Amino acid sequence: MLCFGLLLVSLATQLQGLEILDPREVEYIHLQVNGTAGGSVTLDCGPTLPTIYVWAFTAAGSEGSSALAYNYGHGARLQPRSLRSARMSIPLNSTTLVLTEVQVEAQGTYTCQALYDVEDGARVTFYITRLAVEEEED
Ligand SMILES: *[C@@H]1O[C@H](CO)[C@@H](O)[C@H](O)[C@H]1NC(C)=O
Ligand SMILES: *[C@@H]1O[C@H](CO)[C@@H](O)[C@H](O)[C@H]1NC(C)=O
Repeated sequence: MLCFGLLLVSLATQLQGLEILDPREVEYIHLQVNGTAGGSVTLDCGPTLPTIYVWAFTAAGSEGSSALAYNYGHGARLQPRSLRSARMSIPLNSTTLVLTEVQVEAQGTYTCQALYDVEDGARVTFYITRLAVEEEED
């Protein structure tokens, strides 16, 4: 999780006048989503559009994580080829990561770090979704 934090801090410093409140005030929201191989899932990152957000993926049984997408306020940017086990998209003006043609290898933890610029500084919420993918039954 350390690299997520560093990434977020480096993003935050790009926003002038933004001060991160006590990092102990970071809120963690845990979610579970179950999908079926070949199907699609939607992964949520809160009801309001944050000032910036970053989606990252850690495969099940792996320690490494990779950035999938981010939005610094100029529209969502997907990182090409960062996820081989599903097709990714983010609907316009949203934070929702939509995965289609999901393979079993897409199982793991998807973390959206959302930073909200508020009057007294910044609030940070981590939406941490565990995705389980079952083989298609036939
Ligand atoms: C996902 O699957 C697990 C294990 O089968 C189950 O305990 C859990 O309730 C399911 N969650 C959802 C959101 O369907
Ligand atoms: C997205 O947000 C922009 C700026 O607020 C707005 O002009 C545009 O209509 C929105 N598009 C959709 C599809 O909601």
